[in-house]
Amino acid sequence: MANDLIEAARAARERARAPFSGFKVGAAIEVSDGRVFTGCNVENASYGLTICAERVAIFKALSEGAERFTRVAVVADTGNPTPPCGACRQILWEYAGDVEVILANLGGETSRHRMADLFPLPFDVRLLQEDGTEPEAAPQP
Ligand code: THU
Repeated sequence: MANDLIEAARAARERARAPFSGFKVGAAIEVSDGRVFTGCNVENASYGLTICAERVAIFKALSEGAERFTRVAVVADTGNPTPPCGACRQILWEYAGDVEVILANLGGETSRHRMADLFPLPFDVRLLQEDGTEPEAAPQP
């Protein structure tokens, strides 16, 4: 249920390490086998090393062997629900594809989107192949 995914993202947000921005974000990504992985943003005194909640969630999922995803929820304490930043859109597109993206704030307002709409003109592996690069040339696991 979407509410369960939002609740998982809301709980993850409580664990955000955001002492510099004070902007706490939680994310939860659902795997097609039903598993849910959560993430929160983790900031660093070297600001550029900060990682967003969405990437923490999907990297946790990938590192546990998840391959196909269905939905991702993002929760922040903003009037308008917070969408994924550009870097997260690139990563989500590449590994999760055209999933449903559910955005929510703490007041219960939500909006629903498709990744293809949030990231309409992607740079991805198809372009690398068009350029003549063999798919086999991609790093192998
Ligand atoms: N942030 C996220 O975690 N996800 C988003 O979708 C937007 C931004 C984090 C990064 C940083 O820790 C803080 O929010 C302010 O940019």
